[in-house]
Amino acid sequence: MKFNKNYWENRYKEKKTGWDLGKISKPLKNYIDQLDNKNLHILIPGSGNGYEAEYLFKKNFKNIYYNDVSKLAIKNFKNRVPSFPKTNILDLNFFDINKKFDLIIEQTFFCALDPLVRQNYINKINDLIRNNGKLVGLFFDDIFKSQEPPFGSKKKNYNELFNKFLNIKTFELCYNSELPREGNEFFCIAQKK
Ligand SMILES: C[S@@+](CC[C@H](N)C(=O)[O-])C[C@H]1O[C@@H](n2cnc3c(N)ncnc32)[C@H](O)[C@@H]1O
Repeated sequence: MKFNKNYWENRYKEKKTGWDLGKISKPLKNYIDQLDNKNLHILIPGSGNGYEAEYLFKKNFKNIYYNDVSKLAIKNFKNRVPSFPKTNILDLNFFDINKKFDLIIEQTFFCALDPLVRQNYINKINDLIRNNGKLVGLFFDDIFKSQEPPFGSKKKNYNELFNKFLNIKTFELCYNSELPREGNEFFCIAQKK
């Protein structure tokens, strides 16, 4: 794979981490704040420094799973949130996760993947989500012209990709984005068919 473990490790080593907000994003915080069921099994793929996992953990959600391939990102997360259960840190490729979840939270993970593996991404999301489970989060609009991540997409293409396995409940320009992302990202709530 083009953007593999080494690629991401180097981005952390070289501190080329422009995606890192230093906190949970506002749209995801708002979404999480209205969840009542603290027993949901929740995965955050490509968690990075893990602000969403930390937020959920501190709000007493019981089954949160952090996932990343970068040792450095994992180390940062463990240092910042030492009481987070080690068994819930999935130190492996997203495509090798073998569990079921009620909710998968997307925060700049899809955009980190080579666009060529998008079909694999949605196939894997479908495998990982339990019946009636959801994929919720932020997806960049098609605004980047770079050869390196992040990679966005058009609303129509997201819809085509997700439609096979998911009922899209919401896929709209996000109204409460963090400032640098204002007008550039969609908020998605999609439920397994
Ligand atoms: C753009 S960063 C986003 C990090 C975090 N979600 C955030 O918003 O701060 C993408 C993250 O995905 C991780 N990653 C990339 N490919 C991965 C894969 N196949 N499996 C698991 N993690 C992966 C990278 O190491 C990196 O931490």
